[in-house]
Amino acid sequence: MSAQRPVFPEVDPDEVSSNPSGNRTFGEVVERRMSRRAALKGGTVAAAGFLVAAQLGSTAVAAEPTRAPAGRGGGRHPLLGFDPVSVSRDDTLVVPEGYQTQVLIPWGTPIRPSGPRWSKDASNSAAEQAQQVGMNHDGMHFFPLGNGREGSRRGMLVVNHEYVDQQLLFPDGDEEMTTEKVDKAVAAHGVSVVEIERRDGGWRVAESRRARRITGDTPVDFSGPVRASHPSLRAADRPAGTLNNCSNGYTPWGTYLTCEENWNNYFGTEDADWEPTPSQARYGVSSAGGGYRWHEADSRFDLAANPNEINRFGWVVEIDPMKPDAKPVKRTALGRVKHEGCTVTESRGRVVAYTGDDQDGDYIYKFVGDGNWRVQRALGRSPLDHGTLYVARFEDDGNGEWLPLVHGRGPLTRQNGWADQADVLLRTREAADAVGATRMDRPEWIAVNPRNQDVYCTLTNGSGWNNAVNPRKPNPYGHIVRWTEKRRDNTSTTFEWDIFVLAGDPEYDPAVELDETNVFGSPDGLAFDEDGRLWILTDVSNSSQNLPSRGYDNIGNNQLLVADPDTGEIRRFLTGPRGAEITSVAFTPDQKTLFVNVQHPGEATTAWGAPSPENPRAVSNWPDFDPEGRPRSATVVITRTDGGVIGA
Ligand code: FEO
Ligand code: CA
Ligand code: CA
Ligand code: CA
Repeated sequence: MSAQRPVFPEVDPDEVSSNPSGNRTFGEVVERRMSRRAALKGGTVAAAGFLVAAQLGSTAVAAEPTRAPAGRGGGRHPLLGFDPVSVSRDDTLVVPEGYQTQVLIPWGTPIRPSGPRWSKDASNSAAEQAQQVGMNHDGMHFFPLGNGREGSRRGMLVVNHEYVDQQLLFPDGDEEMTTEKVDKAVAAHGVSVVEIERRDGGWRVAESRRARRITGDTPVDFSGPVRASHPSLRAADRPAGTLNNCSNGYTPWGTYLTCEENWNNYFGTEDADWEPTPSQARYGVSSAGGGYRWHEADSRFDLAANPNEINRFGWVVEIDPMKPDAKPVKRTALGRVKHEGCTVTESRGRVVAYTGDDQDGDYIYKFVGDGNWRVQRALGRSPLDHGTLYVARFEDDGNGEWLPLVHGRGPLTRQNGWADQADVLLRTREAADAVGATRMDRPEWIAVNPRNQDVYCTLTNGSGWNNAVNPRKPNPYGHIVRWTEKRRDNTSTTFEWDIFVLAGDPEYDPAVELDETNVFGSPDGLAFDEDGRLWILTDVSNSSQNLPSRGYDNIGNNQLLVADPDTGEIRRFLTGPRGAEITSVAFTPDQKTLFVNVQHPGEATTAWGAPSPENPRAVSNWPDFDPEGRPRSATVVITRTDGGVIGA
């Protein structure tokens, strides 16, 4: 075992906190909890014992008497029935023996077979891109068409397109920014809704009246406390578009939720007099933006020329996959943050929606609907427009509390400068600072165990905020925290938490309990299937992948793992190509087809270099391996050669 510790990766802007609040962090909570126990037990041995328990979550949890009894897969299928695959550094996608893969809807695929064809030299126009699958697939869900077996053979696949790699999107790169380039980049963002069907053992895109692209320029509505007519949202142009659609959710009434994450990156200005407001600074808004430079060619994205346009972003957006003419609706009651997913569950007839705010030092939120959602729908009201938004506080002793973000309650008063509930929601991060939320190591996806309603959240990595649920400081590998809401009622305002697994390489951190069958870092995507398997997806940044200087040399390319939530056992199911992240999974109702999204293959990496207009294939040429082509994000279809349930 090496005593050398990896240095903290300094890559993504998400890894830089823009949270100046003095709120206690998870690390502080752990230290306090440790020192209190040490004082009680009168010695360092007890304290050290607690640290191990806190860090080795799965073991500690198995012995926790308040947890539900195990019971694997509801007795239906074994949870982990495959042999784990090895870590990989190759430019390929690997699945376990007995499984087969098919590439579906890579970037540029026409959303209807009759649509404009993909040009491998990236010469498709903006108008063509708007009729083709976008770039950088992220969150996804499969909505079955038909009941029974038919519903697992045909459905609407809805896929987010988080961002664009401008070196790969344009034939000549992005040194020069033009209006046509901005239009194409905007068209490559948003969401694809495609109808797919199973035919002759494989899946293909079908002609469909429901297929559509929602882009950064599609007309949208606003609903909830912040309306499109709000003075902070009014601008010359109609409200349009959704951007940086990262993780997702779906509702019990059959709609898709897409989440706007790093929306601040698209806006900038060359106006030397422009300065961010305190609220803009809290969201990381800056004159340089995230390097897209769209503001140089399109004043829509110029912070000085069009100051309200940015306030139209940062929301959860609801899309009806069965109604191609229905506008996407921004559900403002869910708050305005860098939303990483919106996981909906149901308790006592009410909807509960969990969402993470993915930036170092930011928070975990939940929305609890008012009253029965079926009654709300029958009255023509959206269950996502009426309810209470809460933010999480994690205490030293393993307890936690949901703090309401309601105008007039606690510090959120007119006297303290909060005008109304719309103001609280437009400045959600500052409201959460004010009530005393717990800072976290970059909250990403949240998943609810269908068998016992436990909630799991990936904390991908971070600076280690000196508290119990972020037990490592710094935290280059991330971990998964789990909580049980009081009485297993997801509408409760208190909970008990523990750490499910501490990710990382035991060679660098002896507290990690992983081995060659499951070593992983930077967990990001997270989802349960209906049997209760927990699917864990990783997003090791391209400046860390495979690098010893980052402590990532034994972890390989990004991967997909499966965990048994009761025993804590984890096995590696899939490894991805070079430079790629594994972003999401979706299932047919019979669980015999798994859809996996592979995002940004071939992006610039420290280990392999960077793509350029001259050589777009410098890092990866997955999945086409065309000597004149370029790497493309894609959905991968995975089935078993014996037709069985995936993972079992
Ligand atoms: Fe877009 Fe936080 O991942
Ligand atoms: Ca993510
Ligand atoms: Ca991530
Ligand atoms: Ca990412």
